[in-house]
Order: sequence, then C-alpha cells, then structure tokens
Amino acid sequence: MTEQLTRSPRTNHRNLNGARPRTTVRYAHLTGWGMEVPSQVLSNTDLEAIVDTNDDWITARTGIKERRIAEQRETTTSLATRAAQKALGVANLLPSDIDLIIVATATPEHIFPSTASLVQDLLGARDAGAFDLSAACSGFVYGVDMASAKIRLGEIDAALVIGAETLSRVVDWSDRGTCILFGDGAGAVVLQGSDAPGGVLSSILRSDGSGWDMLTLPTVSSRDTYLQDGQHEMHRIYMDGKGVYRFATRVIGDSLRTALEKANMTPEDLALVIPHQANQRIMDHAAKALKIPADRVYSNVERYGNTSAASIPIALAEAADKNRLKPGDVLGLVGFGGGLAWGAAVIEWTAVPGKPGYSITWGRRQSEYARAWVRRPVVRFWRRLMLLSPRAIFRRWQRRIHQRRAASNSTQE
Ligand code: UT7
Repeated sequence: MTEQLTRSPRTNHRNLNGARPRTTVRYAHLTGWGMEVPSQVLSNTDLEAIVDTNDDWITARTGIKERRIAEQRETTTSLATRAAQKALGVANLLPSDIDLIIVATATPEHIFPSTASLVQDLLGARDAGAFDLSAACSGFVYGVDMASAKIRLGEIDAALVIGAETLSRVVDWSDRGTCILFGDGAGAVVLQGSDAPGGVLSSILRSDGSGWDMLTLPTVSSRDTYLQDGQHEMHRIYMDGKGVYRFATRVIGDSLRTALEKANMTPEDLALVIPHQANQRIMDHAAKALKIPADRVYSNVERYGNTSAASIPIALAEAADKNRLKPGDVLGLVGFGGGLAWGAAVIEWTAVPGKPGYSITWGRRQSEYARAWVRRPVVRFWRRLMLLSPRAIFRRWQRRIHQRRAASNSTQE
C-alpha cells in the first residue's frame, strides 16, 4: 500500500564499534502498519451478567461500549504475529529485511523467552534481534523511541515495533472497577531508515516509580511470583483508578507539548493525536490541554476498550487505513500508565498510499513464512536428534563417570 522507501545499500563498511559510519543523516519513517483483534466481542451488556455494572455507567465514565476477548487458541504471540504480517505487507518488506523486533507488552507469555523471539521465529525474520519491552501502556511509544534511535544512528535499517496484549487473562473478573476497561489485541508498525527527512521527529520518555503500586500486575515481579507460592491473586491487575486518572490528565498534554518543543513545533502543527486509549474522558482532556479540536484526537476506545501497549498501534493502523493521515501531516503519540511511565512521540507522516494488490514481494513474503513454518519443527527435531548422537551419548557417559568419581572422593574424605 505504500510506495517503498529506497533502502540504503547495506554496506560492509563499518566503524570499529560495528556501526555504519555516519556520513549522512538518517531518518526513521513509518512505512507499515497493521492490527489484529480477536473476533470474540464482550459488550457492556454481557458484562452485566459478570459483575454489578451497567452499560450507562461504563459508557458515561469511560466511553467504552465493547472490547475483544482472545479465544483459548489466541495468544499475545499469535495476535502480535498477525499484526506484524499485515504491517510487513503495507511496507512491502520481507521478514528477512527486518533487523529488530520489539514487542511492548504487559502480558508476555513467559518472563523469558521474550514474546518478540517467538514472533521472530513465526515470521522467519532470520536476521532480526528481538526483545520484549516492559513499560505497560506506554510500551509502544517507548518501542518507537528505541527503534527510531537505532535507525537514526545508522545501526539498523528496518524495525518492527509491536504492541500486543491478552489482558483478559490477567483481569480480575470480580473487580468491576477494572474488568470493564480492558480488552485484547495487537498493533504493529514498520519503521524504516531513509536519507529523506521526515518520520519520527522527536520523542520523550518519562517515569515516576513512586507510583508503582497504583497500577500493577504483580506476577512479573521477581519478588512475589504466583508460581512460587500459588497465590493466584498475584496474577491479577490492580489499579487505583482515580489516582491513575489524575496522573494521566496531568501528563497527557504536558508530555506531547515537550516532544513538540523538541521538534520546534506547537500543538497547532498536529494533524492528529493518538493517545493511549484508556478512557474517553482522558482523551477529551487531551484535546482541551493541547487546545486543539476534539476531532483531531483519534479514539476507538468505544470498540476495543483499553488494550494497554496495543492501543496506540491499533488506533494508528485504523487511522491510517481510514486515510486520516496524508503525507506531510504531523502525528502525535502519547502513552501513559503503569510504572508510572509515560512518553510522547512526534512523527511526520510520509507514507504514500500506493497501488493495492499483489506484488512480487507478496509471494516472497509468503515463501519466507512457509519456510519459517517448516524450519521450526525440523530444527527442533534436529536438536532432539543431536541428544541421541554417539558423540552426545559418549559425553553424557563421561560426565556421569566424572560425577561418580567426584562423589566417591568426597565420601572417602
Ligand atoms: O491503561 C492505564 C491507564 N489507565 C487509566 O487511565 C484509567 C484511569 N482511571 C479511570 O479511567 C477511572 O478512574 C475509572 C473508569 C477506572 C473509574 O471511574 P471513576 O469515575 O474514577 O469511578 P470511581 O472508581 O470513583 O467509582 C465511582 C462510583 C463508586 O461508587 P460509590 O463509591 O460512589 O458508591 C464505584 O463503586 O462508581 C462505582 N463503580 C461502578 N459502578 C458501576 C465503579 N466501577 C463501576 C462499574 N459499574 N463498573
């Protein structure tokens, strides 16, 4: 869908630290986007059967009407992978073109390995590094900041930044103060390096850890894991809604203003703002704080609820698909949430709607996905086979003899 950016030739010429020499200024352009949400819808009326709530209260206090809930087979990884595949399609890139995959998530499938590594494997992005980023609802903005910095340094050419969540698995379904808010989904963008000005112009990241307990999912704490002591309540989101609301309305306008100042811009320059989709009232406040018309603040919270790190890239993909952005437009992103952490980014939109339809890259992309699909079981089988090789058996036998000798020596002593 976008006219492909001319990729800088991958030169072998490197500095001592391995980075490409900075002969020209590089820019990180947003060239691809995609979103994936589960098909299962949970409406406010459905929630009335689960907790003591009602559609009027939820709509008036949050603006949310419904949210998507992952089915058993859907995971943070599967949603992230589908969103990433769509973003690669829009950018017209191959998985093997990607140098870095960042998955911002508060609901990784494991503490490690990273969800990003699982996505890397499913995509067949064989030359990519991959890691998860923990900054709760601000994670996507943090990811854009990290990936664009590496692109601007000339260290990488293309990155996938993904926000993906299956919050329904960690929501306390007996707490009406939180369970009505959250939903599942994933959004992804491709950032690509180019010598042409534009793309990510500035970003700022902030944190105030003194508010760590205002919004928390303790399971991922190394101190109190529910796996250690069976305290399953540790696997539930807790939120001080009012406190987080006050914090969000304080930082939403200020952080975007600071990022705009960094890019020598003012709120009037903004064609569109995509804030973290937490609550319609917070988004209305953003328009007031920035003194911009409310229709310049994109909202889809009504349909998906709060999808944490996924909310901004999902909204971005929707806005781009609806042609809400044209080349030269300035886009503001602002995230806020657990940490407390928040951040904002200013992006000059440079993606040009291209010819729809299939391209040669489409076929090559599918073949890379197919190769990854075949490679996974083959490599895993091969690893098992290696354990049965005569060499591996001999080594295990040697190790056992060594252990027995060490044990008998220690008993003799
Ligand atoms: O993603 C990270 C960022 N997160 C956020 O930005 C969330 C920020 N916080 C919020 O959006 C809001 O604080 C909430 C939507 C979570 C709550 O709205 P609120 O206006 O702060 O409500 P509240 O918690 O002060 O509750 C007001 C009343 C209470 O009843 P009383 O004590 O006044 O009798 C609650 O018990 O509403 C009651 N209530 C509900 N009633 C019906 C709370 N939840 C519900 C509910 N349905 N689901």
